Amino acid sequence: MSQSLVTLVQLTDPHLFADPAGRLRGVPTLAALQATLAAASAQIQTCQAVLATGDLVQDEIGGYAHFRQAFSGLGKPVLCIPGNHDDAPALAQALQGAPFQVGGHADFLGWRVVLLDSSVARQAQGALSPAQLAALDAALATAPGEHALIALHHHPVTMASEWLDTVGLANAEAFFEVIDRHPKVRGIVFGHVHQAFETTRQGVRILGTPSTCAQFLPRARDFEVDVLPPGYRVLTLSPTGQIDSQVAWLSEAQRHQLTGGVSVRTATSQNSLRT
Ligand SMILES: [Fe+2]
Repeated sequence: MSQSLVTLVQLTDPHLFADPAGRLRGVPTLAALQATLAAASAQIQTCQAVLATGDLVQDEIGGYAHFRQAFSGLGKPVLCIPGNHDDAPALAQALQGAPFQVGGHADFLGWRVVLLDSSVARQAQGALSPAQLAALDAALATAPGEHALIALHHHPVTMASEWLDTVGLANAEAFFEVIDRHPKVRGIVFGHVHQAFETTRQGVRILGTPSTCAQFLPRARDFEVDVLPPGYRVLTLSPTGQIDSQVAWLSEAQRHQLTGGVSVRTATSQNSLRT
């Protein structure tokens, strides 16, 4: 791999419980995270950093110890932000010190990665506070390189999914007002939506990433769980500002092991949003 490329591996929405055997919609979340980390191990070995974009736990702060243990031995910086199921102060407390970084920004070659906290306590919908918007503006204004990638938990664009669009980023307009002032922004990545998603807005790539546990059915009017296995995203950032990105999914055999042979759901899903 060229020295000038920056590779990030995004793992999102692990939804860990205090109980290591805890399950979310039939999926044992810690085992699913461990299986996803194992599947991504070759890419993690050669990446510059791992990106964890929220819902690290499922409303139980006891889950952070498992997150810490799973990520602390990877030998890479782990860039973290909270999601709606996190307790932001408890997350920051639990993930102090290297290799963890919670919020702020990190520079890799000519790229600045900005980590935003869009979580609002006790609320599924997200928003960026005036302080977060100001921090974004300042991080972009002072970025030493020519390119920037923004990470946040909530989706800032419509997912064409009625229920999911009621819990996106409430003040997306204010967010894009800042983005539009900074032409060095090349991409925006998020979690929260538990599905692969991709669009472009004024030349900026906008990428949603599947969870390391259960997925949501794309474009559903009402909440529905998808049949797809755990997944993750690899982002390759080039010196020209180009972003190459793929979503990878656990194999059927790997998923089968997790659920002990019990299928989470048997219906066939449409997979046109796979990237
Ligand atoms: Fe989530």
